[in-house]
Amino acid sequence: MTTSQTPAPANVLSQDELKTLVGQAALQYVVPGEIVGVGTGSTVNKFIDALATIKDQIKGAVSSSVASTERLQALGIPVFDSNAVDRLSVYIDGADEIDGAGNMVKGGGAALTREKIVAAQSAKFVCIADESKLVQTLGKFPLPVEVIPMATQRIIAQFAAKGGVGKVRLKDGKPLVTDNGQYIVDVTGLQITDPLAFEAEVSQWPGVVTVGVFAYQRAQVCLLGTASGVKTLTF
Ligand code: 5RP
Repeated sequence: MTTSQTPAPANVLSQDELKTLVGQAALQYVVPGEIVGVGTGSTVNKFIDALATIKDQIKGAVSSSVASTERLQALGIPVFDSNAVDRLSVYIDGADEIDGAGNMVKGGGAALTREKIVAAQSAKFVCIADESKLVQTLGKFPLPVEVIPMATQRIIAQFAAKGGVGKVRLKDGKPLVTDNGQYIVDVTGLQITDPLAFEAEVSQWPGVVTVGVFAYQRAQVCLLGTASGVKTLTF
């Protein structure tokens, strides 16, 4: 991993301001005249706001969630179906955790399946995050897994055999239903020391739609908001 740094303004920045900073910094990776892949979450919302300031210079976006689509469209950025678009040069998204090799845990916003699809369609993944997301080993943040509802209890049992505790994510007291009509299981207590092997194994369990480990679709660049400015990590 290599790092470089852009100094921050002199005053102490809040987490929200750090998100704004990395959202704006991500504009340098947007290719003029092209369609950009757009992730989901509070950091990406800052990127979408920044993208709106250069919307006349791009063709539009492929979005990873209903929420991002609504925000993009409200700001006048055309949203394309992923099937109507060939290869994307760049995908910009946040993460719940990122390690020193660009492997990530994602899905805190329940959009992991479409995020992985758009990331797989993109030549480069640029992760935008504040420095609290940088970890040595993935597993501190509960691991989101999108599952087919009828497989939920067996998948929770399979994680228990690995030392993890899985819980169905709730919203207003009921299982949260994703944009794809499925459930999310959040798993705590895991130490994901080999992200590629872990992703490959769990992805094959019947009923798993998507596991929130992004090792096959890991980041090539991370713009990290720190007290001393935006740090660029390249992997
Ligand atoms: C959504 C995600 C987000 O990228 C992740 O949860 C980070 O979100 P935020 O920028 O709000 O911290 O994976 O499914």
